[in-house]
Amino acid sequence: MEKTSRFPGFYKLPLGERVRIVAEWAGLSPEEEALLGKSLQLEQAEKMIENVVGLFPLPLGIAVNFLINGKDYLIPMAIEEPSVVAGLSHAAKLVREGGGFQAESSEPIMIAQIQVMDAPDLEKAAGKILEAREEIFRLADSKHPTIVSLGGGSKGLEVRKFHNTPAGPMLVVHLLYDTRDAMGANVVNTAAETVAPLIEELTGGRVVLRILSNLSDRRLAWARCTVPWKVLEGKGISGKEVAKRIVEAWALAAVDPYRAATHNKGIMNGIDAVAIATGNDWRALEAGAHAYAARSGSYGPLTTWKQNEEGDLEGFIELPLAVGTVGGATRVHPLARVCLKILGVKTAKELAQIIASVGLGQNLAALLALATEGIQRGHMKLHARQVAMAAGATGELVDLVARRMVEEGTISPARASEILRELKGS
Ligand code: MEV
Repeated sequence: MEKTSRFPGFYKLPLGERVRIVAEWAGLSPEEEALLGKSLQLEQAEKMIENVVGLFPLPLGIAVNFLINGKDYLIPMAIEEPSVVAGLSHAAKLVREGGGFQAESSEPIMIAQIQVMDAPDLEKAAGKILEAREEIFRLADSKHPTIVSLGGGSKGLEVRKFHNTPAGPMLVVHLLYDTRDAMGANVVNTAAETVAPLIEELTGGRVVLRILSNLSDRRLAWARCTVPWKVLEGKGISGKEVAKRIVEAWALAAVDPYRAATHNKGIMNGIDAVAIATGNDWRALEAGAHAYAARSGSYGPLTTWKQNEEGDLEGFIELPLAVGTVGGATRVHPLARVCLKILGVKTAKELAQIIASVGLGQNLAALLALATEGIQRGHMKLHARQVAMAAGATGELVDLVARRMVEEGTISPARASEILRELKGS
């Protein structure tokens, strides 16, 4: 029987019960299940970065209801912000009513940049590089026989000429490199460093930078969805009207970078959370996403929304997603391994498709809230809990203090402390 990610009332279950359900769903071993509560150990952290003095854990939540390309997924998300996981689960439920997300991704092609200064003749140098394509590929591939044996390695070569820069004329060589299931930063950086001496020889120039580009626009992912207008009805507003308002909300992002930045921030709420949970480099994704959003010369939204003839809502997202399922923290961080197992992903391409769907779903969640009751109402309850905890509330007092603040409409550290003092009778 196919597994379903539909778990009505998941959020109401006690934490232990939620862990049990996810562990059973993903077939986690008792050790893996235990890791969900324990996370990273100091000894592992010490091997990951320098000067370690402690750990900085984030809440790990599970977004439910996801159907992507006909397959059900539970989505692990590491994030500190309230409402993101709940909003996404709700959006995924609505999208499910229209058949789920349809997602695709390109081959995992990264770009390595090799910067050449002082080439005596840019045109000639560019020609020489292109003529030596096979030799450059052979050299670049020599360091990564495993990736090459899996079908990866050098796939393309481009030379870009900059006649006028603040440092004078320069060339930049783009080596297009398929990194298979790795995010591939190390792989392409090594490839770039390996071919640099040959590039110098060919051009008579001097190589400076040898580094990947985070604008990984050859490694794209797409997701689309249709939300039937009927399921959008709520809060006294008809479904068709909600769909219309969502399109109107998106249209502002399409013309205004001030709104587009916030629109895309909401998308990245979901994308980063999955990237962190799976041990991927979320700063690389941020850099790529925002640069891609500005590729036309003006910054725009990463999604599009429109209403079709039936009045249903159609959404689409396209962005670079350089993510991996092997290498880096995906393997070193024990919890990242467990999260990948919960996702049940086999390849980096599949992970990119999931993450694109998460971005689109997260955007739907935000636009739905913004176009109807506003973002604050849902936010406030959880936010109030955080403020109550920051003021020193523990156990049952957290909910009591939070509820009082929500009822009163004043959520502040000062008010939380006052209520706490009152409740404690001091
Ligand atoms: C908050 O973290 C994200 C939103 O601002 C996104 C948006 O406005 O679309 C709600």
